Amino acid sequence: MISTLYALLFYVATFLLVAGVSQKIWIYWRTPSPLKVVVTPAPTTNTGVVLRMAREVVLFESLFKSNKWIWVFGWMFHFGLLLVLIRHLRYFTNPVWWWVSLLQTVGIYAGFAMFLGLTGLLIRRIVVNRVRYISAPSDYLMLLLLMAIGFSGLMMRFVLPTDIVAVKTFFLGLLRFNLQPLPMDLPVLVHLGLVVVLMIIFPISKLLHVPGLFFSPSRTQADNAREKRHVGAAPAGR
Ligand code: HEM
Repeated sequence: MISTLYALLFYVATFLLVAGVSQKIWIYWRTPSPLKVVVTPAPTTNTGVVLRMAREVVLFESLFKSNKWIWVFGWMFHFGLLLVLIRHLRYFTNPVWWWVSLLQTVGIYAGFAMFLGLTGLLIRRIVVNRVRYISAPSDYLMLLLLMAIGFSGLMMRFVLPTDIVAVKTFFLGLLRFNLQPLPMDLPVLVHLGLVVVLMIIFPISKLLHVPGLFFSPSRTQADNAREKRHVGAAPAGR
């Protein structure tokens, strides 16, 4: 009964996540950028823009230049999350890809890094006056949601282990539309329930900065206004 409910929730959440994020990307794609608003100093060629974006995505370069504390915690959280998610691929693949197996141990430490980074970001939001002033309840709630997912995951890993083989069987079953039972342990139900919440609110939350970054004219434009005329017309069909 509960397994069926979770299976349905995961199907609905996956649909909302994929459809919602695709729709947002479609809107970003079609939004005209009428002006050259590149943040200078900026590259003057497209290759330079690609390299700048790569540094932005991998190293959070502009954040590093503006605030070292947010950079430390933010980078710790995002890089930890990346490794954790790579580690999680083992629940969805059979046999597990070799490079996923290779990252299993480091993935566990990444879970702690992720949690620590989130804690730092939350403390900053509460302690720094000018940040608290501009913080909305959703800013706190997103941090708390991610922390709760990380905390319940770490609980499962270190305090109240669950049958991870059964968890994997459940998810491989979902991929093949073949319902399998989930272990009825509290941490796994909490962990997965919160993941469903995260998937559902992702397309209507600040987490949209993930695709949004790639559509940000101040970063994706080249500083070539004198060489090339910027045509800011709306795309065809508008
Ligand atoms: C459907 C998706 C997910 C499944 C099936 C899942 C399942 C699990 C399981 C079974 C564990 C325990 C691992 C063990 O005992 O070795 C775990 C741990 C963990 N999970 Fe998830 N999880 C999912 C999504 C997520 C997401 C989206 C996040 C982060 C936002 C996350 C963060 C963590 C963390 C930090 C740990 C502890 C460190 C680790 O073992 O990797 N999980 N998860």
